[in-house]
Amino acid sequence: MAGSWLPRCLLLLLLLGVSHGAWNMRQIRHTLHRQRQLDSFKSFYIRLAFPKGASGYTEPIEGHYTQPLDHFNRRNNATYRQRYWINEEYWQRPDGPVFLYIGGEGSLSEFSVLSGEHVDLAQKHRALLVSLEHRYYGASINQDGLTLSEIRFLSSQQALADLASFHLFISQKYNLSPRNTWICYGGSYPGSLSAWFRLKFPHLVYGAIASSAPVRAKLDFTDYNKVVAKSLSDEAIGGSAKCLDLVKEGFRAVDALLHSGNTSELEKDFSSCDALSGPDDSAEFVGNLADIFMGAVQYNGEIRGNNVRRLCQIMTTESPQSAYEGLRKVNQGYMESMGLQCVQNSYEKSVADLNSTKINPVGVGERQWYYQTCTEFGYYQTCEDALCPFSPLITLNSQLALCTRVFQITMESVQQSVEFTNEFYGADHPKSSRIIFVNGYCGSGHLLAKICREGGGSPCSLSAEYAKALVEAISTTGIATLMFYVYKHLQFLPKFTFSNVCGSARGSPNLLLRDQGRLHMPRQSLHFNNRLFSGGLFTK
Ligand SMILES: *[C@@H]1O[C@H](CO)[C@@H](O)[C@H](O)[C@H]1NC(C)=O
Ligand SMILES: *[C@@H]1O[C@H](CO)[C@@H](O)[C@H](O)[C@H]1NC(C)=O
Ligand SMILES: *[C@@H]1O[C@H](CO)[C@@H](O)[C@H](O)[C@H]1NC(C)=O
Repeated sequence: MAGSWLPRCLLLLLLLGVSHGAWNMRQIRHTLHRQRQLDSFKSFYIRLAFPKGASGYTEPIEGHYTQPLDHFNRRNNATYRQRYWINEEYWQRPDGPVFLYIGGEGSLSEFSVLSGEHVDLAQKHRALLVSLEHRYYGASINQDGLTLSEIRFLSSQQALADLASFHLFISQKYNLSPRNTWICYGGSYPGSLSAWFRLKFPHLVYGAIASSAPVRAKLDFTDYNKVVAKSLSDEAIGGSAKCLDLVKEGFRAVDALLHSGNTSELEKDFSSCDALSGPDDSAEFVGNLADIFMGAVQYNGEIRGNNVRRLCQIMTTESPQSAYEGLRKVNQGYMESMGLQCVQNSYEKSVADLNSTKINPVGVGERQWYYQTCTEFGYYQTCEDALCPFSPLITLNSQLALCTRVFQITMESVQQSVEFTNEFYGADHPKSSRIIFVNGYCGSGHLLAKICREGGGSPCSLSAEYAKALVEAISTTGIATLMFYVYKHLQFLPKFTFSNVCGSARGSPNLLLRDQGRLHMPRQSLHFNNRLFSGGLFTK
């Protein structure tokens, strides 16, 4: 099965979606989360300064809604307060639609109803904008929420029940009726939630936008690093075969040094905060080093200096004496861009971080997300396959071991949970309708690069514009399931203009991770798409 699952296309992973225990990736995600908050802040003020027929700014409403901690056991009367935002500014009372922005594995802010594609669309369609922070993330958590006994009420199923309950709350608050069309939005994990909300509660939400939604849970996400390898050799984004080869060679040199048992040179060359003691630290160390490349591919261009082009430049053209020296320089550049004095390679400290029950109301909820990988999704980025360019010390077992150490969840249980998640939601063949799966898809990276160049910018994302156009399609027509392939659409759409597509706030041609073999485009929607396109919806 894994063999038929070779990914060849781009998936925009917005924030996490995948998981990996090492420290560097947590730093990268943290930086990214902050940066994205800042971006939405900026784009909001840009909107204010250049209103497209917008009226004055009314402040969004922030509130807390009391939810049952366990929706599935009404004899448990424990509750928690879930944070939400409402922006009434564009709403046409009383019948205008409702756009629901779904939160995920990090804190939300008021900008969840102030900037973004869904906000542009809300303005256009006169929609009421609401957003809901995910339970156990941000401020939507009880004081003791992260303890082992309390965290068990964290699950996507509970989160969907929260959404249903929030739907009721908003409906009552605004006296809504079935005439108010609900559309939900989400990207990455919330993209899956968006799809699943429509899937499980079709009477509550008319249509769903699922952007880069990793709807198919997978225990061993070994394909992730195959994709990273492919990206490192993709010339369209500044990679090359030589770059990939040197990365491989560099990691082999590092592995050899680790194998020799004398790690003092590695500690010095790669600015380890502490001495590497034992195999767990070694695995953490190569994991951290690999994270720099994974981060560059996954969030290509979003973190300054950390993109494929730059890393490959360092590996190849700045002619370091060796591949090992190239890695050393990559690590150095990364530390500078992140403002780090040293790299934390202690496995015990990593465990302690994930084991900490201290609540951080802003940023990514690392402990919570790791818990969800152990109990629902897997997605472990392993490197045991021969095609992975990094170190084979990054194993499935080492990541599953964290589930056991931190949450007392056995490896077998993780495996079963992942299987159940796919059974429960239908994996990548959910039987539902009016869900738009938006994926930055490219039959070849070159095509996307070409579009980006013509659009005048890089990095580039197609997701936003497509989502926009499709919401229009949803709201003006009754579309059956639309499985979305940008590449195919491009063939239909020679006249599609790509201005605004590139350089969009969230843009980056990130990862190639979609199971093409399984994501079939239903024939009728192909047909429908044809009609859609010839109707000129996309052509401007
Ligand atoms: C919850 O239920 C327990 C008994 O099961 C009761 O003692 C307690 O007062 C209840 N708390 C609230 C807030 O209703
Ligand atoms: C370890 O390697 C370093 C540098 O290569 C060398 O200076 C040192 O003597 C070695 N230590 C041992 C115990 O072999
Ligand atoms: C995690 O923390 C709990 C207490 O909060 C402690 O009992 C447990 O030993 C810790 N586990 C690890 C692996 O550090």
